Amino acid sequence: MSSLTVLLAGLLVGIASSESVLLSSKTSAKDPVPISCSLDKVTTGNIVSWNYTSPSGMSSVVGVGAMIFNLTSTAEAGEYMCIANNTVVNKVSVMYLAKPIIQNTRKSVTFNDGDHDRKLTCVSDGSYPTVTFQWSRREEGENQVAVIISPQSDPNINITTTGNNSTILFRNLTYSMQANYICEVNNVAGNATVEVLIRVKDRLAALWPFLGIVAEVVILITIIFMYEKHSKKTVVEEVDAKDEEEKPLQKEEEENGTDIRNRVPNNNYK
Ligand SMILES: *[C@@H]1O[C@H](CO)[C@@H](O)[C@H](O)[C@H]1NC(C)=O
Ligand SMILES: *[C@@H]1O[C@H](CO)[C@@H](O)[C@H](O)[C@H]1NC(C)=O
Ligand SMILES: *[C@@H]1O[C@H](CO)[C@@H](O)[C@H](O)[C@H]1NC(C)=O
Ligand SMILES: *[C@@H]1O[C@H](CO)[C@@H](O)[C@H](O)[C@H]1NC(C)=O
Ligand SMILES: *[C@@H]1O[C@H](CO)[C@@H](O)[C@H](O)[C@H]1NC(C)=O
Ligand SMILES: *[C@@H]1O[C@H](CO)[C@@H](O)[C@H](O)[C@H]1NC(C)=O
Ligand SMILES: *[C@@H]1O[C@H](CO)[C@@H](O)[C@H](O)[C@H]1NC(C)=O
Ligand SMILES: *[C@@H]1O[C@H](CO)[C@@H](O)[C@H](O)[C@H]1NC(C)=O
Repeated sequence: MSSLTVLLAGLLVGIASSESVLLSSKTSAKDPVPISCSLDKVTTGNIVSWNYTSPSGMSSVVGVGAMIFNLTSTAEAGEYMCIANNTVVNKVSVMYLAKPIIQNTRKSVTFNDGDHDRKLTCVSDGSYPTVTFQWSRREEGENQVAVIISPQSDPNINITTTGNNSTILFRNLTYSMQANYICEVNNVAGNATVEVLIRVKDRLAALWPFLGIVAEVVILITIIFMYEKHSKKTVVEEVDAKDEEEKPLQKEEEENGTDIRNRVPNNNYK
């Protein structure tokens, strides 16, 4: 009995096996991915638990007592160790490749000719291990082949990659840069891509509707101005008429008798 214990202990201390498991986007409570201790090295009565280290390096104890531990979410990628009686008996690397997305866009994005420092950010959130990124471009139209782009091949772009995300920066936008841009992510779990069409438009194109409104406003103001001027003229004429009407009265006060001659033209306005 004691020799058996020694033998088992020797096995436990000896070789911890290791394996890799891939999660898919389908991984869920309904569709779990099991990881197991090295069952042949664990016997009934062993105290079993799992030590989990997340991609960000945080460790915790999970699955206490579980010889088989169900992974139910892609967020559970990372490094697992099955521990039986304080001894590591199995190591499991749980890997995941998150399909990349390009932020703030669905299929296409429009920049203006002459724009500076425009960016696209590709994110593969939750991938483990850390992905590598690769950017390529494919001209519009059928049967076009994607060509890898890099700051070395194209001085007009910068690429900045940190962890789960990669940003491509277009320094000076020109019409020739209109194309499909592809972000590819890669790790041991596989590779995946996302594509976006960059359209390059005439800088003034966005201004035309605005200029139309401006033109309308100018025309409107002109009409109002002319109308105002015209009605002012009428008012002035009316005022003149009144002046002429009053003058004779003044004159009437000053020099009586001359009013009849002066009043005559006023009657024409009435
Ligand atoms: C592990 O610990 C349990 C409980 O303390 C004990 O019964 C068992 O014999 C131990 N197994 C080994 C392999 O040390
Ligand atoms: C998990 O294992 C690592 C490596 O042996 C250790 O540094 C860490 O403290 C353990 N975490 C827990 C919660 O036991
Ligand atoms: C793990 O998942 C399988 C399949 O859904 C299920 O049969 C099993 O009971 C689960 N185990 C645990 C410990 O939850
Ligand atoms: C990558 O994504 C994971 C999961 O969302 C996150 O925990 C981690 O901090 C991210 N890493 C970086 C460098 O952004
Ligand atoms: C981008 O435009 C700026 C200003 O027009 C110019 O100084 C710079 O050299 C251009 N860069 C490239 C890579 O064409
Ligand atoms: C792009 O990269 C060049 C060379 O590495 C650097 O000088 C420049 O400042 C970068 N531009 C931006 C906007 O990050
Ligand atoms: C990309 O990564 C950098 C550095 O890890 C971080 O500051 C930034 O917020 C990330 N952006 C996104 C969209 O995840
Ligand atoms: C991406 O994966 C496909 C299979 O899914 C494979 O044929 C291709 O070579 C991979 N590309 C890279 C760059 O690893």
